[in-house]
Formats: sequence, C-alpha cells, structure tokens
Amino acid sequence: MWSSSHLKVLLRTLAADLHSCCRSQAMKASGKHLPKVYVTRRIPPDGIKILRQSGCCDIEQWDSDEPVPRSELLKKVVGIQGLYCLLTEKIDKELLDAAGPSLKVVSTMSVGYDHLSLEEMKKRGVRVGFTPDVLTEAVAELTVALLLAASRRLIEAVDEARSGGWGTWKPLWMCGSGLSASTVGILGLGRIGEAIVNRLKPFGVSKFLYNDVAPRHELAQKISAEYVSLLELAKKSDFLLVCCALTPETLGICNKQLFSNMKSSAIFINTSRGAVVNQEDLYQALASNQIAAAGLDVTVPEPLPTDHPLFKLKNCVILPHIASATVETRNAMAALAANNLLAGLKGESMPKEVPLK
Ligand code: DGY
Repeated sequence: MWSSSHLKVLLRTLAADLHSCCRSQAMKASGKHLPKVYVTRRIPPDGIKILRQSGCCDIEQWDSDEPVPRSELLKKVVGIQGLYCLLTEKIDKELLDAAGPSLKVVSTMSVGYDHLSLEEMKKRGVRVGFTPDVLTEAVAELTVALLLAASRRLIEAVDEARSGGWGTWKPLWMCGSGLSASTVGILGLGRIGEAIVNRLKPFGVSKFLYNDVAPRHELAQKISAEYVSLLELAKKSDFLLVCCALTPETLGICNKQLFSNMKSSAIFINTSRGAVVNQEDLYQALASNQIAAAGLDVTVPEPLPTDHPLFKLKNCVILPHIASATVETRNAMAALAANNLLAGLKGESMPKEVPLK
C-alpha cells in the first residue's frame, strides 16, 4: 500500500523526469546537440539523478563498480564536453589530448585532486570541480576510529579472541595507549584536521600541535592548536595524524627521518594519500618498534597487494581507503560533483571549483 508521502515523492520524480525529457526533446527538435558527458563509473544515485534530471547533457556511463580500462576511457572521451571522474582515473596530457578541444569541464567525485594534471587543464582552459566539505565529518570520524583501532590494538585483539589466543585475564596483555593527557599532532591542518581535533577533545587530549606549509593562525586559535616545525611535531606527538593533501612538497614527507624522531610509543595515522608516506621507511619503523603502531586508510598502490610486508605486521592496521564511505557522504559527494559538472557546462560558477593558478 502506498502512503501519501511515497506518492508525493513518486510524482515529484516523474515530473522531474518528464521535464528533463521534454527539455532534451526540445533541444533535439531545435537541431541543437546536447553536450556529451562521460561518467567513468557507477556512482551513488543522487549524482546520476541530478545529471539525468537536468536534461541538459547527453550522458554515457561506464556502468560498473570496477574502473573503466584506460584504453576504453581514451576512446570514450573523444569529443566530450564534460568528464565526471573518480580519484582512480589519471586525467593527464594523454587523456586531455584524446578528449580534444571540446572538453570544457572535469568534475572529480573526490576532495583530493592529485590525479588531475591541473597544469595541462589550465593550458586548455578546462575547468575543474571537486568535492570538499561534504566529506569532512565522515573522514574525521574514520580517522578517530582508525586511531583507536591502532592505539587500543582492536584488530589484533579480535584476531586473538577468534583464534583461541584469549587465555585467562592477564594484566600485561593487549595493552595499548590512551588519548587522555596525550599530545596529538596534525600534519596538514585544514577542515578535516579541525573536525578531528573537535572529535578528540572529549577524550581529554592535553595538547594539539600542527605543522603545515605555513601557520594557519585563525583556525589554529579557534581549536587551540600550536604551530610547530615538522621535527618538533615528530618528537612531541603521542599520536601523529596525517591530513595533508598530496603535493610535490608532501610527497614522501613521512620518511625515515620523521619516524626516527618519533617516540617509541607513538602511533602514526594516515587518512590522506598513501604517497605522502615512504612505505619502506614506515615498515622498518614498525618492524623495529621504532614507533608503536600505525593505521593506514591509504597506501601505494591501492589496493595494496595482500602479500605486502605491511600486512604481516600486527602493529599496522590497514583499511581499504574508506574514510568517506558513508552512504550519506558518498551521495553528497556524487551530487556535488554532478552540480559542479552541470555548472561548468553552462559556463556558470561552480559550487566547488579548483582554482587554477
Ligand atoms: C577523496 O575524496 O579524495 C578521498 O580520498 C575519498 O573520498
């Protein structure tokens, strides 16, 4: 039995579909071609609905949960005006050359845009949309979850309980470290770092430190975080959380030098991009107990091969890049990326555009 609210939603959807269908028919009748858009993956429903209901683009989609093969992508982008992509697609010179001069806008369903060659896009006048803000809460929440999983040894403990390693209660067994009275260091203080700090405060953290390309006075004052050098951040943090974007400056910034200056009790967490970490150096630091534990939501490569040495370590918790993975957040990202794309196609200001310097 349909309730009146179900019927209202159904009628609204039908009306929107009818409107977009009429608009497309009118465009065709007037001899005008709709701009072609290629969507590189099956995306959350809110995103595709916005594109379809706009009625102002001709959509082709790689209708799969797996990435479109590069060779297919290179064929599909020829002559398109808009590209809706994910962080798994490299949008570089080769791809932009294949797309040709018709390409007006690239909209990525991600906050990170290290997979896009911004310089090449700028040269060609291609505008770029991305999805900041809408994933801040989800990423901050997952960062805290990963921190707790690594510091309180949750995965190791579950494995022990499941596999018969749980003997009698032992005072010295499965001890980790707590957040109370600790010092938390944030590498790269932005919206996500701020949201993490706000979530960690109730745990009784005594000090928040941060390092970034430059001090961020206003934000730091708001959350009572102190700017320190990278070396000091390494030396003083009980928990070091990496939240910076991947740029030429941050590539491999978490390396032997950083790990060797950290406390032996310190926990290292990365939810930004795998390439900010030198994984070989991290492995050595964890295997030799130079640092206590790590939690990684991002690695190089992704997926990390199951026989990778990091998977062999008990003090390393590895997640498959799920920081933004809540249903609501992924829908919001998909919708924002769709609205960015449509605005770019119409030559209007995008809700969230990457400034091309
Ligand atoms: C992003 O958006 O860049 C995250 O890594 C995935 O949500």
